[in-house]
Amino acid sequence: MASSHHASLISFTLLLTFLSFSNAQPAAPAPGPAGPLNITAILEKGGQYTSFSRLLKETQLDKQINSQLNNSFSNGYTVFAPTDNAFNNLKSGTLNSLSQQQQVALALYHVLPQYYTTDMFQTASNPVRTQASGSNGVYTVNITSSTNQVNISTGVDDATITNTLYSSPPLACYSIEKVLLPDDLFGVKPPASAPTPASKSPKSTADAPSEAAGTTSTTANSAVGTKWSSLAGLGLVGVTLSALL
Ligand SMILES: *[C@@H]1O[C@H](CO)[C@@H](O)[C@H](O)[C@H]1NC(C)=O
Ligand SMILES: *[C@@H]1O[C@H](CO)[C@@H](O)[C@H](O)[C@H]1NC(C)=O
Ligand SMILES: *[C@@H]1O[C@H](CO)[C@@H](O)[C@H](O)[C@H]1NC(C)=O
Ligand SMILES: *[C@@H]1O[C@H](CO)[C@@H](O)[C@H](O)[C@H]1NC(C)=O
Repeated sequence: MASSHHASLISFTLLLTFLSFSNAQPAAPAPGPAGPLNITAILEKGGQYTSFSRLLKETQLDKQINSQLNNSFSNGYTVFAPTDNAFNNLKSGTLNSLSQQQQVALALYHVLPQYYTTDMFQTASNPVRTQASGSNGVYTVNITSSTNQVNISTGVDDATITNTLYSSPPLACYSIEKVLLPDDLFGVKPPASAPTPASKSPKSTADAPSEAAGTTSTTANSAVGTKWSSLAGLGLVGVTLSALL
């Protein structure tokens, strides 16, 4: 269970190759080279996104965004900004239960690596990739839209776009009334509860290698089993560390 948590946290790699924006003035509907695009300013102007802003700040994604403003090798970005109300409606402790890396993943989950107008969502093909990813690959959302409505589904919860805070290539920022909860972080995990009781000793995984070394060949099967899980654990540590570098 713990390792599957770690597994979903590897979105740090994306942090390093995160957002890039070209110049545009947030306040002005018409694009112009007046100043750097500033997601914080857009959210500040919106007036009800302090929690999301804080999440971006605490995970330092605001800096990542602002430090790569000039990268033009991108399809732009779409940010779903949950209102403060959305954060207040989370089950208490939801954010605090997340590690720093999980919070990064949560923040990145609200960003699509492409600029979408609301009309463009109608031609988006599901599942739509977000900026977040983990051991199971890229975290995705499903988007369904009609001419006057855009719904986003994570598999755990659903949101509807309620307002456009900013939309001019390369950035779109839409208001939503739900925090998008990635299935990889918040979904029910069937494999953890289903498997055979005999081969599973969740809490003693860390001690497994030395135990396994001393076992006789008759217990080879279970030894192999534990060895696999400890190798998987080591692999995850490696990935996590390299992602942090
Ligand atoms: C972005 O906007 C925020 C809020 O207005 C401001 O504090 C910050 O200095 C701005 N960052 C850049 C890089 O302009
Ligand atoms: C973007 O490029 C312009 C022109 O080269 C430069 O003046 C500006 O400081 C750059 N902005 C950032 C955030 O790097
Ligand atoms: C969006 O979700 C609402 C509420 O769940 C639903 O009534 C509506 O039909 C959905 N619209 C689209 C375009 O999927
Ligand atoms: C998302 O859409 C894909 C493709 O239509 C579908 O296979 C998948 O079940 C959907 N996932 C959710 C969580 O709705």
